[in-house]
Amino acid sequence: MKAPRLLQLAGEDPAATRAAIFAGFSAAPAVVSPKYFYDALGSRLFSAITELPEYYPTRTEARIFSCFIGEMAAELVPVTTLVDLGAGNCEKAASLFAALQVQRYVAVDISASYLRDSLESLQRKHPAMDMLGIGLDFSRTLTLPAEVGEGPRTMFYPGSSIGNFTPAEALAFLQQVHLASAGGALLIGVDLVKPTDILERAYDDPLGVTAAFNRNLLRHLNALVGTDFAIDDWRHVAFFNARESRIEMHLEAVKATVVHWADGERAFVAGERLHTENSYKWRSEDFADLLQAAGFRRVASWTDENGWFAVFRAFS
Ligand code: AVJ
Repeated sequence: MKAPRLLQLAGEDPAATRAAIFAGFSAAPAVVSPKYFYDALGSRLFSAITELPEYYPTRTEARIFSCFIGEMAAELVPVTTLVDLGAGNCEKAASLFAALQVQRYVAVDISASYLRDSLESLQRKHPAMDMLGIGLDFSRTLTLPAEVGEGPRTMFYPGSSIGNFTPAEALAFLQQVHLASAGGALLIGVDLVKPTDILERAYDDPLGVTAAFNRNLLRHLNALVGTDFAIDDWRHVAFFNARESRIEMHLEAVKATVVHWADGERAFVAGERLHTENSYKWRSEDFADLLQAAGFRRVASWTDENGWFAVFRAFS
């Protein structure tokens, strides 16, 4: 049996990370990157979100793949190298290995150590497959190391994580993906515009799991950068901003409060917000145009019966 290789690439230095976080707190309105949702508890809360009846994206995307993977695969097989961006537990990609005839699997996520367990158990199920785990914050740079190997790459970016980028950032990111996959292809999941009540329920569920996910960010930040956010002082707010075509998540101070850190502080008045996430919702035609603008060709897409979510395939 082969063994997965692991590679951790240097990230941003801790001082720069802290400075960026504190600059966001001090901005008006205050803002923080959604990447800080995902500590150990946050990752579990996100996985609980994907089980909620109101959160349609994960299961809708899975249904699109299971219905249409044959059509998608027809022009992709055999996939020499599948590069999974934001692989996490690697389950989504693994479910496509057979249909895509994947020869080498490259899982990319923020931390290589988090990929170790997933890759080791996956290797037991696919003893002959070449597997590589790369720890890399690919939202900053998508320069892949030589260890990824020769040959065309099929990039896999499911889950509508692209929705965290503004349209301008999404274009820049897809241009990077295009460069990194020269001669290969991209499979990407994208959440689509739909009636506001359906969108808002998906991001403000009656059980309060999304609220817990949002508020957990404050626990994580307290541990990460030594702030003293009092979780009880903050309530979850989520709504669809139609003008920007995005769900916005915020944490709203329920009363006046001051947050302190080593060499700074930020006062919030009651009702003032910390902006924690944007989740852009695309029109299918606009996303196809975006892929073309990023340099992709032969753009095709598959959707569910409601037209709520789409998987795009494009060639580099
Ligand atoms: C992981 C970014 C795709 O935007 O739907 C879920 C994150 N936030 N519920 C999304 C999320 C609140 C999710 N993405």
